[in-house]
Amino acid sequence: MKKKLASIAAIAVMSVSVLAGCTSAPKFETAEGAQKPILIQGPMPIEAEKFAQRLDKVKVEKSGNFVFYKGKLDKYPVIVAKTGKGMENTAAATAIAIEKYDPAAIINQGTSGGHDPSLNVYDIVLGERTVNIGSLKTGHLEEGEGIEPTNWIPMDLMASEGSAGEDPDAEKIRYFEGDENLLAAANAVKGKYTKGKVVEGTIGSADLWNNEVDRINWFHENYETSVEEMEGAAAAQIAGAYDVPFLGIRVLSNNKTNGGKYDPNTAAANQDYVYEVVKQYISEIDGK
Ligand code: 5AD
Repeated sequence: MKKKLASIAAIAVMSVSVLAGCTSAPKFETAEGAQKPILIQGPMPIEAEKFAQRLDKVKVEKSGNFVFYKGKLDKYPVIVAKTGKGMENTAAATAIAIEKYDPAAIINQGTSGGHDPSLNVYDIVLGERTVNIGSLKTGHLEEGEGIEPTNWIPMDLMASEGSAGEDPDAEKIRYFEGDENLLAAANAVKGKYTKGKVVEGTIGSADLWNNEVDRINWFHENYETSVEEMEGAAAAQIAGAYDVPFLGIRVLSNNKTNGGKYDPNTAAANQDYVYEVVKQYISEIDGK
């Protein structure tokens, strides 16, 4: 009897370790055992090309308007995607990259405008959360009653498959959470960035550039946004649809709330920092 129990226990231990092997391996390897690439997205040439130049053995592939620089960093496959600006380009470029390259993780990075007056140009926000700030429902007003943007309410397009206009469940803010392992890698190399501070925060995205400070403050208060840009939430939504770990990393290139003037050189500074984050993340994969 004792012998039988011992062999049952041995089988149980074996199957737990086999299962553990199955759950950890496919995250960074395909079914065929190939390493899954890390995907780094940048919207504009100044937000993607500096990173692409630092990869080894680069091959360039195109799909529609989207350019993919496939290379290696510390011998691990990394793909830089130049997505173009805005939510639509980014969503499409993300879906195409996932279908074509099966990435282990996605970082969407680039410039942004400050919503938080305590953040300065060159500071970097790690997207603990990303949110679509263009997904809104207006109040009910009749002809001649005007337009009341401060009464607009959030609209969650992922709430249900029913009408977003009628479903009360859709009247809430949808936040996409940043992946905790990517956040940990980003926090681990914070000290290597010397041009400003690196903080965790909320990245707001829409095909919109806000220059009205009261409106910026409204988003900061109602959505708790740290910065705004035009891509992160689109990438986060599609990464989430495929269950791919995601993080947004945005440098402030401007901040209307404290007079921070636009500086395009911030884009290169952010890529230098994201390069360190990716190196750190790869070193953690190699240790697994
Ligand atoms: N508002 C919106 N987008 C901004 N960007 C930089 N600053 C801002 C801002 N204040 C980024 C967007 C887009 C490009 C115009 O620069 O993400 O890619």
